[in-house]
Amino acid sequence: MHTLQLAVDDFVDNSENYTQAVDLLDNGEVVAFPTETVYGLGAVATDEQAVKKIFAAKGRPSDNPLIVHIGTAEEVSLYTANISEVAKKCMEAFWPGPLTLVMHAKPNILAPSVTAGLQTVGIRMPDHPVALKLLQTLKKPLAAPSANRSGKPSPTKASHVFEDLQGIIPCILDGGRTGIGVESTVLDVTLSEPVILRPGGVTKEMLEEVIGPVLEPSFEQQKIESTPKAPGMKYTHYAPDAPVYLIDADEGIIEAAIANLKSGHKVALLAPECFKEMKADYYFSLGEAHDAEQMSAALYDALRACDKTAATIILATATSKTGVGTAIMNRLEKAAGGNWYQP
Ligand code: TXA
Ligand code: MG
Repeated sequence: MHTLQLAVDDFVDNSENYTQAVDLLDNGEVVAFPTETVYGLGAVATDEQAVKKIFAAKGRPSDNPLIVHIGTAEEVSLYTANISEVAKKCMEAFWPGPLTLVMHAKPNILAPSVTAGLQTVGIRMPDHPVALKLLQTLKKPLAAPSANRSGKPSPTKASHVFEDLQGIIPCILDGGRTGIGVESTVLDVTLSEPVILRPGGVTKEMLEEVIGPVLEPSFEQQKIESTPKAPGMKYTHYAPDAPVYLIDADEGIIEAAIANLKSGHKVALLAPECFKEMKADYYFSLGEAHDAEQMSAALYDALRACDKTAATIILATATSKTGVGTAIMNRLEKAAGGNWYQP
């Protein structure tokens, strides 16, 4: 299969490209498109055959449900029942935006594979001009996971999608780099107390200002069987080919680690700009130190870049778990399988 790459920037008339993408989707095909978080791989969420193509293209386990994307907030009532006050407040405050709400699904409307057999569905209205234009032209909901092969870091550029899915999907809408760089916050609002199943761009602090106390299980707590979690979080994620280790963002510690590893390893270092002079074999910037937004925007590109090197070990600096730092550390802990570098 040939994979079309259609540029959709603000400077030219793109209507023909949107028409092509919409035609493909209406005909049961999949199309990759940018959102404000990461690129998604979309299919019409009511078309079971189309949705199955997403799972096949990604190599995604069938028990991992997909997020449904809508182009207007009103559509939420077509697919969900018993919308709570908490859910309404969240939509009002954070949509369009990087917040997925897990709600009670209306039966027999969405394709069964979207919800992977659950009674609930995750829905969000993305805040990206290309995603919104696509959804509003299509006038149908799009089921869309991140547009990477399962297990790999999510794509933040069209070229990342192309690397993973070239020849497997018919079309990528190229809207440039995505802004936030980590996936949306997944908030379950069907439980008596809302629970963050996956941290993201909308932080616990931001949510609590609007809806009061929110539970956010830690990496360790998420391993406990009884903790509510997103089905997808049990799978390997965000993993480059070489093993990743977390390390403190401290010059002395990093210098000693590199010196220690260098004899047997090719070392890649993912760290803020202030560490770029360290003597690693490969260095990939995570932006200015203490700038969590820059770090989240750079993270997946840096993890993916390691696969283009001969690195045999990857050291990634930790950051504080505040604001979007919580989402960054969640992804890094998963990429590293919870491992920290030990001298
Ligand atoms: O930012 C994002 O959310 C991106 C863009 C494309 O919108 N999408 C994304 O989708 O990250 P995906 O499939 O890679 O991650 C969806 C996560 C998975 O961990 C999945 O298990 C969880 O959301 N999820 C989906 N529906 C759920 C449900 N009904 N209950 C619990 N978790 C759910
Ligand atoms: Mg994903």
